[in-house]
Amino acid sequence: MDNAFDLVIFGGTGDLSRKKLLPALYAGYAAGRVSKGTRIFLTSRSAHAGDMVDFLTDVFAKSKPACGLEDGCLAEFANMVTVVGLALNKGGADWDAFAASLNIHKNRPVVHFLAVPPALFTSTCGLLARYKLNGEQARVVLEKPLGHDLASAQAINHDVGQYFKESQTFRIDHYLGKEAVQNLLALRFSNILFERLWSAHTIDHIQITSAEDLGVEGRAGFYEGTGAMRDMVQNHLLQLLCLVAMEPPARMDADSIRDEKLKVLKSLRPLEGAEIDKNVVRGQYGPGAVAGEAVGSYQDDLKLDAPSDTETFVALKAHIENWRWAGVPFYLRTGKRLPDRFAEIVIQFKPVPHSPHPGWDEGGLKPNRFIIRLQPEDHLALRMMVKNHGAKVEALKEVEMNLDVVADDGSRLGPYLRLILDTVRGDQSLFVHRDEVELAWRWVDRIIAHWDAKGDQPIGYQSGTWGPYQAHDLMTRDKREWFYETSKKTRQS
Ligand code: BG6
Repeated sequence: MDNAFDLVIFGGTGDLSRKKLLPALYAGYAAGRVSKGTRIFLTSRSAHAGDMVDFLTDVFAKSKPACGLEDGCLAEFANMVTVVGLALNKGGADWDAFAASLNIHKNRPVVHFLAVPPALFTSTCGLLARYKLNGEQARVVLEKPLGHDLASAQAINHDVGQYFKESQTFRIDHYLGKEAVQNLLALRFSNILFERLWSAHTIDHIQITSAEDLGVEGRAGFYEGTGAMRDMVQNHLLQLLCLVAMEPPARMDADSIRDEKLKVLKSLRPLEGAEIDKNVVRGQYGPGAVAGEAVGSYQDDLKLDAPSDTETFVALKAHIENWRWAGVPFYLRTGKRLPDRFAEIVIQFKPVPHSPHPGWDEGGLKPNRFIIRLQPEDHLALRMMVKNHGAKVEALKEVEMNLDVVADDGSRLGPYLRLILDTVRGDQSLFVHRDEVELAWRWVDRIIAHWDAKGDQPIGYQSGTWGPYQAHDLMTRDKREWFYETSKKTRQS
């Protein structure tokens, strides 16, 4: 079946397009997921005059597609790609020509992917409407940041909404395209085993971590003044929290999933004043070493003269106030220049109330844990106690039950391809509704406003460590610990 579509990447020669979108599209083409007739337009301030194979070779040298490169395939893919010089703030001859080339295929899906700063969203959507490129077959994809607070997010949603219906608007959060995240939903809602245990009755707490070993790398202009709370917590981490905590949706469609996620966001206990000081830790990386290499501080990376109060690390404790989750803490953590790159959700169950095994109450029994690792690899595992083989029946050990399913093409091709193809099909179930974006901002804004009002400075932490020690205190004062570090220490010892 021919599933050819037109994709316009606004900001097509920029960072996101080079690092994520083009490698994903190439891999999709090589795997037969993107058909030959598909056209990919990369908008840029000036039309690219050079050879497309050379351009793509350069792009893929820095960001390798998951499938590796093959000359014949690269040449075919290059034929599908055109660079278009287009001003995004005024119409004119460039837009006339662009609209004419899109109109060659009037009835195929056309995806306008806005990989540009939000300041250009309104003018770009306005021009798309003026040139009648927002018809029934058109979809617009909005890449974060969707504003920097509630008011600016509302303005974006309002402005884009003037030209595109909500059913045509796809707010992308690439974490939702990760295979392990989708598998979480499959496991939760297709097995009686998990759903029956999925509540405050049996769950002690939940941890959600996205850790990076890199610093701000060439994105300084964007990052300074944005910070980890806006860059990671407001979107990726709160989306993961919603999927873990939501009730079973009536159907696996966009409206039903959205309704359940919204209930979670509405039930998040707002943090205020002293609660923020106690439950939210913000840090900024200083000099240190990552993977044995000396690295500079955030200030060095940005070449800043004056100190910056932008945080590169956040750890926090949140609560969802509903029947299912009353009393269960959700610990969220994200940071740059940490020792490792990984993202995972850990569901930690309560300890057994009693066991006949000696030493069970002195740390001999580990609580069950369900681990959903999103990266570096997709991994689902259940940790449980079993008898140590051959030893006496009292001798127990913790084992990991691997729940991974054999990866098909879909998982290897990565989240962006998956989400672009969903956009083409008009399936919004893995996208974020405007109400979700706005509720998430409402929750996060309170914390940021408190920091601003206090003139709060992030706590310095050494690069290559797990952030400020206060992030550990957040756990240890509750007699808990961050899981990945402990498991890693165990694995290395
Ligand atoms: C982006 C953030 O949304 O996610 C980046 O803007 C961050 O700062 C990135 O590095 C992390 O994505 P991933 O998939 O590598 O965890």
